[in-house]
Amino acid sequence: MKIDVFFTPLGSREGDLAGRGVVVIDVLRATTTIVAAIAHGAKAVIPAATAEEAVRMTANLERDGFLLAGERRAVRIEGFALGNSPLEMTPEAVLGRTVFLATTNGTPALVAAQGGEPVLVGAAVNFSALVERTRAAFGTSGDLAIVCAGRERQFALEDAYAAGRLVKAVKRGRRRADLNDAARVALGLTDDFADWETALGASAAARQLIDLDFADDVAFCATQDRFDVVPTYADRRVT
Ligand code: MLT
Repeated sequence: MKIDVFFTPLGSREGDLAGRGVVVIDVLRATTTIVAAIAHGAKAVIPAATAEEAVRMTANLERDGFLLAGERRAVRIEGFALGNSPLEMTPEAVLGRTVFLATTNGTPALVAAQGGEPVLVGAAVNFSALVERTRAAFGTSGDLAIVCAGRERQFALEDAYAAGRLVKAVKRGRRRADLNDAARVALGLTDDFADWETALGASAAARQLIDLDFADDVAFCATQDRFDVVPTYADRRVT
């Protein structure tokens, strides 16, 4: 059984994810935002690699049926209805609607994970449900790839910590698991931080968000098991 962690989507080459169980993680904040949107009744979230792509994809759609959401440098994109805050994904805002989401790192990572079977969307807020689904998927294929969105093509502590927590939980009770180097390092991080709050709090992404007045988002993203949904990405839709 094999578990590979990729600290950024750039770490994986074409074909690396094909047919494997894949989990994509961007704890601060894109995958947390997606989990919140789906848990609160969004019909689907469509991840876009860029803001322009999100706008293009909605060009011929009925205005009432969709919402444009996303950020650049953590701030809502001009002209978009919502930013990338999980707190904005309320039932009032998203119920029954399709959310087209464009973020700097998280949605491009999802787009790059196309081909995994399945591609699961993971965060702290759905962690226990994610572990269960991942163990089921891993049990079937024996082959798991955990893709961290990272930050500006670099390592991001909060995603690596989440990957480590997932490796630890998936491995539990199994005699042998073949881990790549990144998976070993991620696993080690779970001993360095007592909990989600301290791990996220130590990250550069959290510092940036707090400076921009998104401290409530950081607290929301650091709370385990707010939701029990595990969104799946297939055919360019998260449902
Ligand atoms: C991203 O996709 O880069 C992040 O989710 C950034 C953010 O916190 O808005």
